Amino acid sequence: MLDQYAQALQDRVENQTLRALRSCAPAGNGEIEINGKRLVNFSSNDYLGLSQHPALAERSIEFVKKYGTGSGASRLLSGNLDAFEKIEKKLADLKGAEAALILPSGFQANSTVLAAALAQNSIVAADKYVHRSIIEGLQLSSSNWFRYKHNDLADLEQQFERRAQALIEKPDENKAKSKKKGRRIQNVSAKVSAESAAKWIVTESVFSMDGDTCKIDDLLFSAAMRGFALFIDEAHATGVTGENGMGMTAGKEFSGISMGTFGKALGSFGAYICCSKLMREYLVNFCSGLIYSTALPPAVLGAIDAALDIVPEMDEERLALAANAEYMRSSLKKMGFDTAGSTTQIIPIILGTEESALNLCKYLEDNGFCVPAIRPPTVPSGSSRLRVSLSAVHTLDQIDQFLNLVRSWHEKKN
Ligand SMILES: Cc1ncc(COP(=O)(O)O)c(C=O)c1O
Repeated sequence: MLDQYAQALQDRVENQTLRALRSCAPAGNGEIEINGKRLVNFSSNDYLGLSQHPALAERSIEFVKKYGTGSGASRLLSGNLDAFEKIEKKLADLKGAEAALILPSGFQANSTVLAAALAQNSIVAADKYVHRSIIEGLQLSSSNWFRYKHNDLADLEQQFERRAQALIEKPDENKAKSKKKGRRIQNVSAKVSAESAAKWIVTESVFSMDGDTCKIDDLLFSAAMRGFALFIDEAHATGVTGENGMGMTAGKEFSGISMGTFGKALGSFGAYICCSKLMREYLVNFCSGLIYSTALPPAVLGAIDAALDIVPEMDEERLALAANAEYMRSSLKKMGFDTAGSTTQIIPIILGTEESALNLCKYLEDNGFCVPAIRPPTVPSGSSRLRVSLSAVHTLDQIDQFLNLVRSWHEKKN
């Protein structure tokens, strides 16, 4: 029986897509120690350097002293420490939303909130580039979902029309298809006619692998005009962009859910969604990721609480981050590299083959830089890349050293 696992790993070796865990420790100044070697870290999502901020550590310690090290149970049992609702109120105010709900992780939020919120018969359009956790949420839902071409709203509209028509003409066929695909979660009443089925658009605001952004104004306009609900994953936008630094949907009115994480720019761990009070109450009753999972521990809640006090005041860091990213991107483009549609702190260097991505990754690591090679299945075949993620703590000197190395690798190769 073990042969099949060994074979799967061997296939990855042959495809140059095998991954392995390595032991790391933060080393300050945007650096990291990996297997004992100090490297400039261009692989972290700690975009504001908050994971090392003393205010977060102090509030974590304060919360541990007050509440202990664990929350002890799921939020619906006795794990709903009073800090949760205070933080959720702070979060909803910062986002300009009616309500917020904290969940144990971003993966869990996407995979279980979508599974619970998308009703059978609802038609759901998801951007081609959405994160794995969103796809798993769609797969678990009983909705009628499809993917549209990346950021292509014309394709989205066309496919919506087609699916809605099919649902009206052949509702039974759709139900059968849904059963055949083994979709299991069906919480929201199916007693909704196909004509009045909910329509959702699901996207990220800042895309995690390309560093480009969704067309937020067009999406908000289209959703308002046509009565669509939106689910917007702000994992890589939270802390970095928008009103109060709280993402592209902060202060925007729309029907649906925005989701964000605390494990990236906010420096600790966990996730949240912002939504209506009604949706919050519904999810408290139907979202498996909240119901069947231990609540976040006090140390993490303390760090989240402190980050939410600091992040709105970090405009200077956000400006420095954006300027550094622009400098790096334009320099890479001048050397002839493809940086996809990046306009943010995430900058891909698209190299095509796994071999090239691994080769540049190793060259950079040998010379003091940690930049991960991202290969299929994380990105589509033929688009293997290095994914640079910058932080406000990186210096121009570090960026220049990196650019010199990439230039010399490029010149040697050509
Ligand atoms: C776009 C996006 N959504 C969700 C997640 C999952 O968040 P978490 O790391 O909190 O599980 C990630 C993680 O990398 C992500 O990139």
